[in-house]
Amino acid sequence: MKAIILKAFGGVENLVMTELPLPEISDNDVLVNVKSIAINPVDIKVRMGKGLAERLKEFTPIILGWDISGIVTATGRKVTAFKTGDEVFGMINFPGHGKAYAEYVAAPQAHLALKPASISHEEAAAASLAALTAWQLLKEYAGIKKGNKILIHAAAGGVGHYAVQMAKHLGAWVAGTASAKNRDFILDLGASTHIDYEKEDFETVLKDLDFVLDAVGGDYSVRSLSVLKPGGTIITIPSGSSRNIEETARAMGRIGYHFLVKSNGQNMKEIADLLEKGIVKSFISETYPFSEMRAAHLQIETKKTKGKIVLTVS
Ligand SMILES: NC(=O)c1ccc[n+]([C@@H]2O[C@H](COP(=O)([O-])OP(=O)(O)OC[C@H]3O[C@@H](n4cnc5c(N)ncnc54)[C@H](OP(=O)(O)O)[C@@H]3O)[C@@H](O)[C@H]2O)c1
Repeated sequence: MKAIILKAFGGVENLVMTELPLPEISDNDVLVNVKSIAINPVDIKVRMGKGLAERLKEFTPIILGWDISGIVTATGRKVTAFKTGDEVFGMINFPGHGKAYAEYVAAPQAHLALKPASISHEEAAAASLAALTAWQLLKEYAGIKKGNKILIHAAAGGVGHYAVQMAKHLGAWVAGTASAKNRDFILDLGASTHIDYEKEDFETVLKDLDFVLDAVGGDYSVRSLSVLKPGGTIITIPSGSSRNIEETARAMGRIGYHFLVKSNGQNMKEIADLLEKGIVKSFISETYPFSEMRAAHLQIETKKTKGKIVLTVS
């Protein structure tokens, strides 16, 4: 099969297309013929030797990627959830070795859901890591409910564009930060108000919020504490962002912490349901052929990606 391996941590030139044997599946795995994959900023960080790279450096070869959508072609002895021919999608083995940049992937049944027939493999792959992050933190960690007032930073990005739709669905009033060109995009997704971060400071226009999702990092998380009401919560997701957020938040009578998404097939089923009902949609700004992985990485590196980008594998 064709696969893209990471020959060394560093630039995109280290992503190299190669031929590898089909992966072996264990008892609880299915073998997936991958139709589409999505990539995320974590792919770039690991490629550069940061973040999860520490966990992956013991593997040879390293195959990046976690988000897949495809067709089951074989099942392990203990697989009961899926059969050959099923269309499945999900975020595989995160935060571990996902090995998604390949025509075939060995995927634990517990990390997958059936792909809704009404959406494409591209739309399904897109709605894996980014959608799962938004869903886990809004629904399970923050417990967003009707009437909550929340702020989503980077509302036009991969995580943000799902988070706006999901928060709206959960009944929240949503403010989103994005540049001027993405104003209509986030309002159409369901945001109640847009803040152009290049022209105004969100602290000057928002106050007394229940929750902030920080998908930008840097000084955004500590700055965001001032827009929370007492007892309000901020979850920050960029790796290494505001390591002191917990203490600073506590000192101000707020709650703040970093969150890391985890593979979870039950949550993927919930996302599949939202996609099937049209409550949540994947916005794909560009689709690349598998052979153009390097260009796809460079696009994510711009930090300007609108919605998601995906690659068609087979
Ligand atoms: N901890 C976890 O589990 C987890 C999971 C997923 C992602 N993450 C992290 O979360 C971050 C976001 O991920 P993503 O997939 O959403 O990234 P992404 O799709 O690459 O985000 C791009 C978006 O960021 C917006 N943006 C850039 N600078 C901004 C700023 N200063 N203020 C507001 N918006 C800004 C851009 O909007 P404009 O073009 O309008 O500027 C663009 O639409 C990354 O650091 C990623 O590694 C962490």
